[in-house]
Amino acid sequence: MGSVPAANVPRIDISPLFGDNHDKKLQVAKAIDAASRDTGFFYAVNHGVDLQWLSSETRKFHMSMTHEEKWDLAIRAYNQEHQHKIRSGYSLSIPGKKAVESLCYLNPSFRHGHPRIETPTPLHEANDWPDEAKHPGFRDFAESYFWEAFRVSSALLRGYALALNKDEDFFARHFRKEDTLSSVVLIRYPFLDPYPEPAIKTADDGTKLSFEWHEDVDLITVLYQSDVQNLQVKTPQGWLDIEPDDTGYLVNCGSYMAHITDNYYPAPIHRVVWRNEERQSLPFFVNLGYEDKVEPWDAAGKGVKPDREATTYGDYLQNGLLGLIKKNGQT
Ligand SMILES: [Fe+2]
Repeated sequence: MGSVPAANVPRIDISPLFGDNHDKKLQVAKAIDAASRDTGFFYAVNHGVDLQWLSSETRKFHMSMTHEEKWDLAIRAYNQEHQHKIRSGYSLSIPGKKAVESLCYLNPSFRHGHPRIETPTPLHEANDWPDEAKHPGFRDFAESYFWEAFRVSSALLRGYALALNKDEDFFARHFRKEDTLSSVVLIRYPFLDPYPEPAIKTADDGTKLSFEWHEDVDLITVLYQSDVQNLQVKTPQGWLDIEPDDTGYLVNCGSYMAHITDNYYPAPIHRVVWRNEERQSLPFFVNLGYEDKVEPWDAAGKGVKPDREATTYGDYLQNGLLGLIKKNGQT
């Protein structure tokens, strides 16, 4: 495989989005707009999150989980007895077949007493946690991190709103602590010797992949990754490498943003190149609430009303997640 040129992925200082200087916020918005219209990716820096804490607590968790514990937390796709665990829980590796493993967890507000938990609604699940005695502090870390990611995402959404010439609370109105369908996924890609052949996919152009091309199923994605190059984005110039940067959050739009903006901010198509290195990929998938509905509008200002039907976030997410599993397989 020859060397692949690097994609333009600007670093954007998002600290003004936490303050109240409107002109400075508009400057950030302009940079977000440019990135969203270009490769679709940027690094958000000066976000205020201790990413070393995130990485080391996650590593401690992954490395201390026993097979039995993973099984106890497994989603339905891995453990038929867990019919209620569709989104939140452990996705196991399979020796000789599947290398990647991950824990997905949802809004910590989804617990006993929450109306959507009491009256079960698709996509809402209370998180299960490993035994506190065996993983002291993990639940506390994971829940705190959810709210840190929520805080950063709220700021980013102010930036996106301004970038789209809306008032800065345009998205925040639909992104609430009590009912956001967002998720954190703590993904571990292991180093393996030998690496199981079935865990490596081959793209049409011969590139070895861990995960095939896709658009993200969310509004935006806010991703921390280890300092190991793996992502590629599809551009008019072909597939380009996204350089890693473990000091920033890699941010991109998902297909709901593309839908509501009538593709003014497309969901960039990207893929995960296979690397045999121990590394982490820790996305926060920014999702709205179950009944939220943002009416698609002519964000490009073409003077033509989009003929897309507005869709509730719950319907969008349900169909989108199923579609992604159908296309790229169970992760
Ligand atoms: Fe993705």
